[in-house]
Amino acid sequence: MSPQKKIASEGPGSGVQERSSWSGKWGFILAAAASAVGLGNLWRFPYLAAKYGGGAFLLVYLILVITFGFALMMGETALGRMTGLSTIGAFKQFGKKFAFIGVLASLVPFIITPYYCIIGGWVSKYMVSYLTTPADVIAGDKYFTGFILNNPMTYAWLLFFLACAFIVVGLGVQKGIERANKVLMPTLIGLSIVISIYSLTLPGALDGLAYYLIPDFSKMSVNLVVAAMGQMFFSLSLAMGIMVTYGSYLDRKTDLEQSVRRIEVFDTGIAFLAGLMIIPATFSVTGSAEGVATKAGPGLMFGVLPKVFETFGVMGRVMGFLFFALVFFAALTSAISLFETCVSIVQDMTRRSRGFALVTSGVLITLVGIFVNMGYNIGLGWDPMHSIFGFGEYQDFQMLDFFDFISNTVLMPIVALLTCIFIGFIVKPQKFIDSVRESSDFKGAKLFSVMIRYIAPICLVLIFVFYILNTMGIVAL
Ligand code: ALA
Repeated sequence: MSPQKKIASEGPGSGVQERSSWSGKWGFILAAAASAVGLGNLWRFPYLAAKYGGGAFLLVYLILVITFGFALMMGETALGRMTGLSTIGAFKQFGKKFAFIGVLASLVPFIITPYYCIIGGWVSKYMVSYLTTPADVIAGDKYFTGFILNNPMTYAWLLFFLACAFIVVGLGVQKGIERANKVLMPTLIGLSIVISIYSLTLPGALDGLAYYLIPDFSKMSVNLVVAAMGQMFFSLSLAMGIMVTYGSYLDRKTDLEQSVRRIEVFDTGIAFLAGLMIIPATFSVTGSAEGVATKAGPGLMFGVLPKVFETFGVMGRVMGFLFFALVFFAALTSAISLFETCVSIVQDMTRRSRGFALVTSGVLITLVGIFVNMGYNIGLGWDPMHSIFGFGEYQDFQMLDFFDFISNTVLMPIVALLTCIFIGFIVKPQKFIDSVRESSDFKGAKLFSVMIRYIAPICLVLIFVFYILNTMGIVAL
């Protein structure tokens, strides 16, 4: 197959617009899996699993992935493949009035990519630190805050990570993204297995394993389901335009259902391994799940884990380096997909060349990234959530948390809901089922229809309403 398929659409002043394509089924599966596996799996998943009763969270998450996640990923990739366009164009093709869904979905990667790259910069710094600095220094209480607060070097690490993603995306879909994934993904899987095995051999780790695997149903709550659903969107790269874009690079011969199932297995497998790496090791050091559960976000990865590595003696630096190399690869492949989605959106919107879209997206993401990073230095102390909405629970929010909240908690469920309504009631599931069947059987067609039309929208509305009421303290769940 030719590396670039030409789409016969003339762009103003730019001649024929070139659209990228995958080299084949595995190029797509690997890229989509690489997009899915990221900070969401290695950082958010273990923390949420520990917080919400280990096995109970795992079970709910698994059910959501094979039902809701499956339906939405099928819908998004089929929409991209049907239209051959990224998210705005894809929705617009069914009527100008639907373009707003694509616009909302497009906002998500532009909001997430900048802060994702800031965290990618922190991960890069830690990976390099384990080569140059003793593990006990990195485990010091002030090491992380000393690095991120009022430190001009955070800008340098942000630019470093951005440059890595920019170079890969700049090389193109096949020469850049596919080639990088062929090296990065097997390395990532190998590292995950090695670290998990090592973690399970630590004294007391089996108690952590039991906590992780045996469900504690007393922890079941609406908040658990909300957390599992948010995690599923983020981890499977749903409701953020990525899967529509990646589907748009796909040929009509590929078995979409089988590919989606494989992507889900990859993503859930790595999330599961991340839990195996982190929960037993933290249990072994702290003697309880508290160390994992009480530390959300940066605290867990940059605070608790270095303390765990410190106890490994001479192996501490090796394991620390390997772990952060693993997170670096995972974050980079996801950042690449977010970046690529921005490029594709700009290219389709402006109908200019890929080079133009690459530079425009790159400049925009860099500027927003620098702005968000200011929250840790010149903007320190300014809490956008509190200033704008006055929500008490969020008074400690930095700019990065604010961007994360707006994208994950607000925009993504709205985009998911609108996408379900669009597929279920406007275009109708049958059109998608027919499109999937152009290349293969669609065994889950019934599940797809029922999920997209009824169960997913109802659950989304209920969960969203309960979540807001709970956040505002009107109901306690
Ligand atoms: N799906 C990506 C992650 O989990 C964005 O980090």
